[in-house]
Amino acid sequence: MTKIGYLLKSISVWMVGTFLSVEAQNVLPPIPLHIEYNYAKAKLGKRLFFDPKLSDDGTVSCAQCHQPQNGAEKRSVSIGIRGRKGHTNAQTIFNSVFNFRQMWNGEATNLKDQVRLPIHNPNEMAMDSSRIVRYLRRDPSYSKLFLTLYHRPATFEDMSDAIAEFEKALTTPNSRFDRYLRHETTLTPLELQGYKLFKKIGCITCHNGINLGGNSFQKIGLINPYPWRPYNPDLYALTHRENDKNVYKVPTLRNIALTAPYFHDGSVPTLREALRKMAYHNLGFVPNDEEIRSLIAFLKTLTGETPQILHEKKH
Ligand code: HEC
Ligand code: HEC
Repeated sequence: MTKIGYLLKSISVWMVGTFLSVEAQNVLPPIPLHIEYNYAKAKLGKRLFFDPKLSDDGTVSCAQCHQPQNGAEKRSVSIGIRGRKGHTNAQTIFNSVFNFRQMWNGEATNLKDQVRLPIHNPNEMAMDSSRIVRYLRRDPSYSKLFLTLYHRPATFEDMSDAIAEFEKALTTPNSRFDRYLRHETTLTPLELQGYKLFKKIGCITCHNGINLGGNSFQKIGLINPYPWRPYNPDLYALTHRENDKNVYKVPTLRNIALTAPYFHDGSVPTLREALRKMAYHNLGFVPNDEEIRSLIAFLKTLTGETPQILHEKKH
């Protein structure tokens, strides 16, 4: 092939590649109506999730920071045992089963692997594995449940597995947006305008896939720099590479109208301000009032149904 022919071929391959990836980004799938999980294990997981005895002083359960109404917290940063304050806002765990990794910097590979982090974190539950296992084996009803469901005395691994099964059940299907995607309803003109803008200005380049986020690491401050703090829960905290400063797993925008305050440090109290900051720092775009109104209207269509398992009375 001549040099120019080769060049043209590479350009067309590159263009098709770019076109495909842009197309793939623009497909936002609805949350499935049903998801596979083991119901009996999820019920055990639910009980563990709400049990403060899994913490060092017996006062802090997972649910203290991940509340049943939204899977997140109202505080800007979490407070764990004995009033110990962290630096990080608890993101929602609703729909986290769809994330490619867990935590702001993806430290955990999946839900089961994630459980050890809050339990061992000195500012959260500060508990060691052997104490938890002793507690679960001594408690007659837990010990019976573990034997029945896992065919061996309680272990830290099986406890993590049960909690992860419960978290799988925390999906929020049937948002108006999902029903729109399934052609079961229409969106208002303002909502549609917001959805179009979301795609046009490029929010969707980072907030895409089933969770409109949760599937890549991206920087905040891509266009206009965003302040960095040494105790950020960013990718840098894991890799210590300069380029990873202020790089986070893109948060999901599902149920975003319910999960204020926003950003990794909970420093942003309203959705309006979060959008302004995002547009400015990551797209170099200053939206006007109408644009903000339409984006908010669109984001509100992403509120789904509260997970069924949380409505069930008994654990
Ligand atoms: C004291 C508050 C606190 C408690 C208790 C707590 N968490 Fe969290 N959780 C957080 C914070 C803060 C984050 C964000 C931390 C980070 O990403 O660096 C988080 C993140 C998560 C995530 C990641 C979600 C995602 O999308 O990446 C999951 C899953 C999770 N927690 C589950 C649990 C479970 C299960 C428990 C109980 C075993 C628990 N948490 C207890 C505060 C808490
Ligand atoms: C270059 C990638 C990128 C683009 C483009 C982008 N975002 Fe984000 N978005 C992120 C990252 C990363 C975060 C986490 C920031 C943090 O916590 O400091 C985030 C956070 C958010 C949050 C807060 C979520 C939460 O739970 O705290 C909202 C809301 C949001 N983005 C909306 C938008 C909208 C609307 C647009 C378009 C105007 C947009 N984003 C464009 C990467 C991006």
